[in-house]
Amino acid sequence: MAFHAGYVRPQGAGLGLRRAFMADFSCHDAAERVDFLEVAPENWIDVGGRYGRSFRALTERFPFVCHGLSLSLGGPTALDRSLLDAIKHFLNAHDILCYTEHLSACTDHGHLHDLMPIPFTEDAVHYVAERIRVVQDVLERRIGVENVSYYAAPGPEMSELDFIQAVVEEADCLLLLDVNNIYVNSINFDYDPVAFLRAMPGERAIYAHVAGHVREAPDLRIDTHGATVIDPVWDLLDEAYAAFGPIPTVLERDFNLPPVADLLEEVARIHRAQSSVRALGRGARGARPSHKRARG
Ligand SMILES: [Fe+2]
Repeated sequence: MAFHAGYVRPQGAGLGLRRAFMADFSCHDAAERVDFLEVAPENWIDVGGRYGRSFRALTERFPFVCHGLSLSLGGPTALDRSLLDAIKHFLNAHDILCYTEHLSACTDHGHLHDLMPIPFTEDAVHYVAERIRVVQDVLERRIGVENVSYYAAPGPEMSELDFIQAVVEEADCLLLLDVNNIYVNSINFDYDPVAFLRAMPGERAIYAHVAGHVREAPDLRIDTHGATVIDPVWDLLDEAYAAFGPIPTVLERDFNLPPVADLLEEVARIHRAQSSVRALGRGARGARPSHKRARG
């Protein structure tokens, strides 16, 4: 296995870019209130015309990170090499800082709409870690894998924590630390989110996610990215910063899109939390490349 650095850690607070926000970031003071933007490459590969030109203009102005949707790291079918090649071209063409994907499966003889959990088993650790290594070899960069929300754990042989730790160590990849997913799972599977968070391999965190979710019942939360971030999730983000330093953090919002000004208030909340932990002398730790990829 080749060793890859090949990524640049973003800085500060970011926002998931939706097409509805593009005009705001082209001519609004929004540009000064986010440090970086995140997109799913699948939503932008091969987009041309007016949207393509607007996107290009943004990637020339802003640092961007990419969060993949459909690579299906844990899926049963072969990795989609044409998709991987297209992602590599996209990352290079837009000088994307880093690439992350979900630690889940989304294919089952065709693309499913939902992200399916990977069984927490020894075999699955080896299987998904090998696929991550292949992805890293093709992309020629380390990638981050995200802890996901899930609603059933098929045939577990180990805990979710042990599974995540084993995968990232065996693949020698980075972690995308999704704080909202930890909170949602902690309600649905009745565990202590703070203890879970502190046991995560935060030293590998390339960046973090916060998002809103739906309270379906007292003991059931659904991860929707369609609401504002609730206070217990903000508290858990503060815990993450206390444990691992002010990890760069993206606000995810995919549905029920409010005016971008409302989302920028939440991005400002991320900035305040990062400033607070810096004021306490907790410098950034977490993932750092040994050789930064030259931008230009
Ligand atoms: Fe996420």
